[in-house]
Amino acid sequence: MSGEIDVSSHRRAVEVADQVYWIGALDPTLRVFDIILTTANGTTYNSYLVKGSEGVAVIDTVKENFADEFFSRLESAIDYSEIKVIVLNHLEPDHSGALPELMRRAPHARLYISKRATSMLKALLHASDDLEYTTVTTGDSVSLGDRSLRFLHTPFLHWPDTQCTYLEDEAILFSGDVFGCHYCDKRLFNDLVGDFRFSFDYYYAHIMRPFKKHVLEALKLIEPLQLRLIAPTHGPILRERPRRYVTHYRELSTSALARGIGSEDQSMIIFYMSSYGNTARMAEEISEGAGSVPGVRVSLFDLQGGETSPFVDLIEEADALLFGSPTINGDAVKPVWDLLSSLAVVNLKGKLGGAFGSFGWSGEAVRMIEDRMRGLKMHIPRQGLRVKLIPTEEELKDCRQFGQEIAEALVGKASDSDIVEFADLI
Ligand code: FEO
Repeated sequence: MSGEIDVSSHRRAVEVADQVYWIGALDPTLRVFDIILTTANGTTYNSYLVKGSEGVAVIDTVKENFADEFFSRLESAIDYSEIKVIVLNHLEPDHSGALPELMRRAPHARLYISKRATSMLKALLHASDDLEYTTVTTGDSVSLGDRSLRFLHTPFLHWPDTQCTYLEDEAILFSGDVFGCHYCDKRLFNDLVGDFRFSFDYYYAHIMRPFKKHVLEALKLIEPLQLRLIAPTHGPILRERPRRYVTHYRELSTSALARGIGSEDQSMIIFYMSSYGNTARMAEEISEGAGSVPGVRVSLFDLQGGETSPFVDLIEEADALLFGSPTINGDAVKPVWDLLSSLAVVNLKGKLGGAFGSFGWSGEAVRMIEDRMRGLKMHIPRQGLRVKLIPTEEELKDCRQFGQEIAEALVGKASDSDIVEFADLI
């Protein structure tokens, strides 16, 4: 194909493969997406059109305020009366924004969505009860005459409703947000655009990473497919060596420890900050106690000693996380909050947690850290440990006991009756 593709100056459909077209929109000035994601050069809302002998399919639409661009491209390729199929792989507004108007203009079209998308269809689009649609899952397909679209059930990538759609004869995967990135380049195709590796990995880290388990499930469906091209809903269309992006997703989603250290031990990480060495002393004793339990590998990190962001990988791999902080002005210290607030991209559900710290007169930090861990759906097997100023020998013994008990909970030695639930603490 030509290296001179320029879609910004005219609003025409761009051929992606035989009778397959990109009819999306460019948003080059966007700098913040969904509040949490930054993008240095905007994004694209990719929509696709597939022509068959007995009708046309439109796969995903665009953000509502880009609808004019989308409809102009669509009209350059087909007439609305030809549309028989509309597939929404994902109903987030950046892909469903033009759907109501598209359905109004294409009265012969039937909408295909995942089962989980039905409630969102009503909530997001205020779709009326008489709106007709078909829910689909893995194994279902829809015919366009001489070609057909097959559906893959790939939920939680990154919403419950997400699915992928596969065009059999051209081996094209319409992947939704999967394999996408916020990178706007009017040259559209991965072999023509600028270097988007950073954007691809950044997008994965912020959007897909919390759903690694679901990524791996989806890859089981995607990897066996013949793949000539991957057509995501954001960023470059992946036509040059598309499989390397699939391989990269598997690498990104596979446990670093499983690939690296290969330890069978349960991993406990203890992070702490200390003003006068008292919380540090507690951390050392807790580490000592936890390390006495066979099958538990303990790592101890002073947050004063480095940046917090490199710890996110470690945290994701850990089985138990303990945070120690003194209380200063009624709060935990900033590096502890920095680390805790950076964990939104990590799935911590079910990991064990614990908090501890020395305090001068109020000591709120421990409870605040515990609340944050509960908010992250971690399990707190032992009530947090607080020590007033310098720990006594007896309190240091309590620290060792605290570490040991959490470690025992980690390897399954603690009885359920020992578990302190949130309700017990208030
Ligand atoms: Fe691109 Fe999840 O919407």
